[in-house]
Amino acid sequence: MKNNKVYLGLGTAAIGRPQYINIREKTTKTDFSLEEFRNQGFSLLQQAYEMGIRYFDTAPGYGMAENLLIEWLKTIEDPQVEVATKWGYTYTANFDPNATQHEVKEHSLAKLNEQWATSVQLLPYLTTYQIHSATFETGVLENEGVLRRLAQLKKNQGLVIGLTSTGSNQLQVLQQALSIQIEGVPLFDAFQVTYNVLDQSLAAILEEMGRQHKRIIIKEALANGRVFPNPDYPHYAELYRILNEIATHHSVGIDAIALQFCRQTVRPFTVLSGASNATHLLSNLQMEEIKLSDEEIRLLKDQAVSAAFYWEERKALDWN
Ligand SMILES: NC(=O)c1ccc[n+]([C@@H]2O[C@H](COP(=O)([O-])OP(=O)(O)OC[C@H]3O[C@@H](n4cnc5c(N)ncnc54)[C@H](OP(=O)(O)O)[C@@H]3O)[C@@H](O)[C@H]2O)c1
Repeated sequence: MKNNKVYLGLGTAAIGRPQYINIREKTTKTDFSLEEFRNQGFSLLQQAYEMGIRYFDTAPGYGMAENLLIEWLKTIEDPQVEVATKWGYTYTANFDPNATQHEVKEHSLAKLNEQWATSVQLLPYLTTYQIHSATFETGVLENEGVLRRLAQLKKNQGLVIGLTSTGSNQLQVLQQALSIQIEGVPLFDAFQVTYNVLDQSLAAILEEMGRQHKRIIIKEALANGRVFPNPDYPHYAELYRILNEIATHHSVGIDAIALQFCRQTVRPFTVLSGASNATHLLSNLQMEEIKLSDEEIRLLKDQAVSAAFYWEERKALDWN
């Protein structure tokens, strides 16, 4: 077992529900075993811990993931372990691998209180409580009752309050969130954001975040799998060539390069792995062994696409 805490965190979306958004080929499953799926998820949490991972990100919207984590935490005793969860999505697919509706979003005070009643069981490991996918559309950043309740949880439970952001207007959402204060105290201190070699739009707000000492957590660092060479994305041929060349040079996988790129260019609190198995997680962890040169960073920075294009393409990805 690795005693040194690693930088990478584990996102638990893939171990909590049989389908989530990525580039895998769509298959119709008939032989799905819920018990097997549960055991695999539980075992990945333990394997991740043994590999040195101490930051775990979950959400009630990730099917059984939050409950798996609650159960697994009972088996350890380690003050280094840190958990982040969210509220705002209800999982509705009932573990049917062929389901078409997966989740329902609701940013109400009632939903916050309902989901908190389960998430509270993650204490004392729970450090971070986030609005799941804050957007202007749900009005959550203007909902006085919700904001006051979050401020109360921050004060009473000592939690870091945060939000996750998604979409081409991520920057505007972050700007608004940064300006929110409750009784003169800024409410949000953690921001789980999308950032990767393709969507680097976060860069525009990094200086401001740094000045305010905010905690940045990076999700979708592998662009949901789009960083891996794929004939469906011929427009990324140059990116694939560059990633391959750098990966060969460092003797690691493309995933390690893409993750380390996020680390070196943003210097976030943590970068999340979305791996669903130990082989991919181990490969992701190779990021810890390398340092990209200034020239490699420059080459990768040049591969960014516009946020609008990135999110159009992301919208077309299926639940697989
Ligand atoms: N707040 C939100 O709204 C939100 C949204 C998305 C994600 N998240 C959080 O961020 C975490 C990570 O995001 P993500 O899973 O969407 O995105 P990601 O890390 O960009 O991509 C994960 C994809 O990359 C694949 N992959 C990883 N390592 C690989 C390897 N070595 N070889 C081949 N494929 C590999 C995974 O496949 P396998 O599954 O086969 O390992 C999966 O399909 C989630 O678990 C969740 O905690 C939050």
